[in-house]
Amino acid sequence: MAVHAAALKPGATLRLFFACWPTPVLQRQLHEIGNRLKLQIDGRVSRSANIHLTLAFLGDVAADRLPVLQQLASKIVVPAFALPLQRLGCWPDGGIGWLAPDQAPEGLLQLVRQLNEALQRAGFRTEKRRYRPHVTLLRKAGKGWRSTLATPLRWEVDTFVLVASTLDQHGSVYRILGRWPLQ
Ligand code: 2AM
Repeated sequence: MAVHAAALKPGATLRLFFACWPTPVLQRQLHEIGNRLKLQIDGRVSRSANIHLTLAFLGDVAADRLPVLQQLASKIVVPAFALPLQRLGCWPDGGIGWLAPDQAPEGLLQLVRQLNEALQRAGFRTEKRRYRPHVTLLRKAGKGWRSTLATPLRWEVDTFVLVASTLDQHGSVYRILGRWPLQ
């Protein structure tokens, strides 16, 4: 797993999450949908290279816990799955414009469940709120709007990744620290 030298300083923390990461081609398609969605609900379109589906958000984690995360990720056994994405919207509390599945595929739910169980066993903090799978396409968008894509986008998910999030002057920068196959 490639880790930046700064992360190896004693006491360093990393803001981490597990995610499914689209190919660059799929990221560009999603970005294009974000551009069209912006015409409806306003907001700022996510950078193409940043577009992903979060599985489990860990928050700030001591960098010396990375080997534990690598170990637990390598033990996940979930078959690859297809993820059709067709629901567009933003939540009533506003801010985020997203694309989501009509129904989460069983493979995705298994992956999230296994990750959360393994994270809890290893003593990591996990999300208490219900998992709502979504791909964020816009930030600072409108509120409570819903629509459906005429043709669902089909994402063949066959890997998952561990990502470190930092900020630069343009917003979030995501660095993939590890990638594991679904089998
Ligand atoms: P979002 O796209 O809905 O904002 C990195 O921040 C990723 O983790 C984002 O995809 C973000 O979801 C997700 N995430 C989930 N819970 C989060 C939290 N409590 N704080 C920040 N990001 C969170």
